[in-house]
Amino acid sequence: MTPDKIGLVLVIDDSSTNLELLYDILTEVGYEVLLAKQGKKGIELAQSHPVDLILLDVIMPELDGFQTCKLLQTTPETHHIPIIFMTGISDNLEKAKGLGLGAVDYITKPFYKEEVLARIKIHIKLRRLTRELIHEKESLEQRVEERTAELSQILAELQQTQLQLVRGEKLSSIGQLVAGVAHEIKNPLGFIAGNIDLATEAVDHLIEYVELYRSQFPNTGEEIQRKGVEIDIEYLLKDLPKMLASMKVGTDRICNLSTSLGTFCRSDTSVKVLADIHEGLDSTLMILQHRLKPTPHRREIKIVKNYGKIPPVHCYLGQLNQVFMNIISNGIDALEEVLGNSAFPENFGPQITINTQLSTDQQQIMIQIADNGQGMTPEVKSQIFDYLFTTKPVGKGTGLGLSISLQIIKEAHNGNLICYSELGKGTVFEIQIPINDSPAIAG
Ligand SMILES: Nc1ncnc2c1ncn2[C@@H]1O[C@H](COP(=O)(O)OP(=O)(O)OP(=O)(O)O)[C@@H](O)[C@H]1O
Ligand SMILES: [Mg+2]
Repeated sequence: MTPDKIGLVLVIDDSSTNLELLYDILTEVGYEVLLAKQGKKGIELAQSHPVDLILLDVIMPELDGFQTCKLLQTTPETHHIPIIFMTGISDNLEKAKGLGLGAVDYITKPFYKEEVLARIKIHIKLRRLTRELIHEKESLEQRVEERTAELSQILAELQQTQLQLVRGEKLSSIGQLVAGVAHEIKNPLGFIAGNIDLATEAVDHLIEYVELYRSQFPNTGEEIQRKGVEIDIEYLLKDLPKMLASMKVGTDRICNLSTSLGTFCRSDTSVKVLADIHEGLDSTLMILQHRLKPTPHRREIKIVKNYGKIPPVHCYLGQLNQVFMNIISNGIDALEEVLGNSAFPENFGPQITINTQLSTDQQQIMIQIADNGQGMTPEVKSQIFDYLFTTKPVGKGTGLGLSISLQIIKEAHNGNLICYSELGKGTVFEIQIPINDSPAIAG
């Protein structure tokens, strides 16, 4: 039994006897065979059929074997087909020339059947293996490419998840803790504030009483007078109401701060609420107050608020506050960098300006936070939203602030976060949030 389709062999020879002989030898063992009596015809057949091997006679009229071989080798459809030359037994020069032209082998005339079959079998097998190897290589390359794409995708997803986790963690753990503390402070604070009011009233009465006593009984006796000098009664009477007043200012401040902390950390992470953006900005500024105040080494950072008339917005206010916090903190960092550089101009006034407005199409609100710090190079600017990108020293920046902010604005609010910055000219961050289902402004 002969195997099916073990290979398609093209024989090119001008001698009909040789063609017939080779046809018989090859078909007998199961090869499919194409025959051509001229080189030109042979090339046409090789171009139009999936030929596995070519047997090529050297001496032919018109195109001889060498010319045919050259043409086959330079034609894209046929250059890969192995060619075996058929030469006379003593034509060593021809054999060498054929091999030099790229033929894989030669067989000698008169044909010795077993030799012909053995050589053909080996070269067809070699060709099959080469093809398989090329195919394997291609599919391996493709698999590597697919895997690389898959891995990059997984990496990107992982980074997103990590961001969400950090964001969630920041909000839920720190946020809830702070909101809890702010809430717990409220009661004792209310107790102190309420009693300061009562104490102020009582002290006023007491002072009135002492004054009255002194006017009715100017000669109080030596011991009382001595005590009065000892405790500096005149100063005490004047200073006590002032002391109470400044205690009141202090408790008021703590009250505001604790309310702001509560607003800032609102745990509305899962449901959007209709919120006043200005309230969010103000609570953020209140929390950052300590970073704005002048210090012995640095002048005050001024905040300029240009709040426009904007409607309440459906948003996760707790998350938006985090964005405000990140952007304003970055602005403060940038200004501190300028102030820390002894070369800054004497009249430099560090400033953060916050503008809010409704877009002209009334479809979104825009919040611009600008600083007059050192700005950024185009190279830094192109990377600021990248996960973990920071130019700050270890311990000062993690490179998460802006990537988290971008995610909050884009994904949670379907908005936009844009940065405008030029080296030496400061930086502006613009937050755009669609108001879609928020009610229009009143009035
Ligand atoms: N207002 C700004 N002026 C100048 N450079 C800025 C400003 N805002 C951001 N950058 C640059 O963008 C980088 C990334 O900011 P991002 O807030 O993401 O990280 P970070 O501030 O370095 O660290 P953190 O995670 O603590 O916020 C900063 O390191 C800084 O180089
Ligand atoms: Mg930051």
